[in-house]
Amino acid sequence: MIAGDTPRKARSYAHYLKIDELLGLQERLSEPARHDEMLFIVVHQVHELWFKQMLHEAEAIARLVERGDVRPATRVFRRLIEIQRVLIQQIAVLETMTPVDFLEFRAHLEPASGLQSLQFRELEILSGLRDSGALALELHAADEPARARIEARLARPSLMDALDACLRGRGFDVGGDDPSPGRLAALETIYREAAGHYDLYLLCETMVEYDENFRLWRYHHLQMVERMIGRKPGTGGTEGAAYLTGTLAKTCFPELWEVRTRLG
Ligand code: HEM
Repeated sequence: MIAGDTPRKARSYAHYLKIDELLGLQERLSEPARHDEMLFIVVHQVHELWFKQMLHEAEAIARLVERGDVRPATRVFRRLIEIQRVLIQQIAVLETMTPVDFLEFRAHLEPASGLQSLQFRELEILSGLRDSGALALELHAADEPARARIEARLARPSLMDALDACLRGRGFDVGGDDPSPGRLAALETIYREAAGHYDLYLLCETMVEYDENFRLWRYHHLQMVERMIGRKPGTGGTEGAAYLTGTLAKTCFPELWEVRTRLG
């Protein structure tokens, strides 16, 4: 033991980060164990860890934006975007697997699928894709704690709800049962007079980048799916690539895209 130190076990790297537990979580189901199943599990688990971090950051952003702390919120949003870049890159690692290597263990997964990722749905809901809540409730119908998490997420403000609150605080008229027209009018002013609303303008552009990266991840995931399984159905029971193609049009912040059409 180092002089003056507390027992090493109490503060070692392995103890603090629970490395033994973490490294014990990659359990291959194939028999005999297939080499690439390890990569498949690790890439999924790493995604889930980053999803956890993204939810943590996105919740902080919603709180900051809601109370008008636009610059700190934008800084945290930059972190979220860097995490998205990491996730998009990870798909390329999984794409080094060949379709035949994947087929060697694919049957063991069924009926598990990324479709059932609860954190992914929570992230969608927090990002404004409220329709994903209905899908998630249906997919997790038999899992009460999962349903409770989705319902709690649906009850809390989305990132766009938080922006609405911030815009109201700055004197914009965003109200009523349908905030969309007021939101769009406010965004039009912000984009036309960016110099006078520069912090809000930068936040909005950061939100657009986040939305764009969300779609890029979907696109890269779809490409990977087509490379691995072609037009076969998914293990989660959808049509596979055809289902995923339908999700490419999902937009977290539609007014932030619409405002560009209005400018002229
Ligand atoms: C060989 C690699 C992969 C293949 C072949 C694959 C295949 C699929 C398919 C076919 C679907 C449609 C649902 C279904 O299963 O019927 C799907 C959905 C999904 N997958 Fe993957 N996937 C792969 C890797 C990943 C990874 C690494 C993640 C990271 C968490 C992931 C996350 C998701 C998510 C979140 C969905 C739901 C998308 C949505 O509903 O918008 N997938 N995947």
